[in-house]
Amino acid sequence: VTKTQYYTATSLDGFIADPDNSLDWLLEIDDLSDAATDTAKQARKFFAQVGAFCMGSTTYEWVMDREGPEGWLRAYGDLPGWVFTHRNLTADPRMKVTFVSGDVAPVHEAMTAAAAGRNIWVVGGGELAGQFADAGLLDEIILSVAPVTLGGGAPLLPRRLLANRLRLTQAEPTGPFASLTYTVASPD
Ligand SMILES: NC(=O)c1ccc[n+]([C@@H]2O[C@H](COP(=O)([O-])OP(=O)(O)OC[C@H]3O[C@@H](n4cnc5c(N)ncnc54)[C@H](OP(=O)(O)O)[C@@H]3O)[C@@H](O)[C@H]2O)c1
Repeated sequence: VTKTQYYTATSLDGFIADPDNSLDWLLEIDDLSDAATDTAKQARKFFAQVGAFCMGSTTYEWVMDREGPEGWLRAYGDLPGWVFTHRNLTADPRMKVTFVSGDVAPVHEAMTAAAAGRNIWVVGGGELAGQFADAGLLDEIILSVAPVTLGGGAPLLPRRLLANRLRLTQAEPTGPFASLTYTVASPD
């Protein structure tokens, strides 16, 4: 059964990027640059179960500005991705990217079909993950909580989801990170 999972790293105070849209605070944590660490192993294990993914345009442009199409292909390979934007963005023809806009429900349907039994990864940002939660289409939130506070930036999940909707199902240290998994119940 396909699960829709918001899997992201976050600061301890709930930001996924700093006020300058930078992830340097995350990338400078040594554990991330070494493929042999538990952190990297956990990311590979998650990724192996993913059959489709989506992201907002800020995240897309962050990846493209930094890594370009080659970096995208290294990271995502053949995996089909959907990018939410109101603008006319373009992608290298080798990238399996579909640009979409508006309601997340039909996009979720297309991603479920493409995932063929594997999971859907909502890469971020927080507002997009919130749109999936609003529609009752988010099954899990999986966090790598970095030992960092930022004081501001792009919010992890700018929604009010109370304890009746979030249930902690896993919590363990992974290198310097706290790995937390929550199941998300649909809105009533
Ligand atoms: N810590 C991590 O692991 C992690 C993970 C993911 C991302 N990030 C970073 O966190 C930041 C995320 O930024 P963010 O939360 O501001 O943005 P985001 O979700 O990446 O992008 C926001 C943009 O997505 C588009 N969008 C969202 N919902 C839409 C919809 N339903 N229909 C059409 N377009 C829609 C809009 O783009 P248009 O303006 O183009 O219309 C909106 O401005 C980035 O810097 C990213 O690199 C960090």
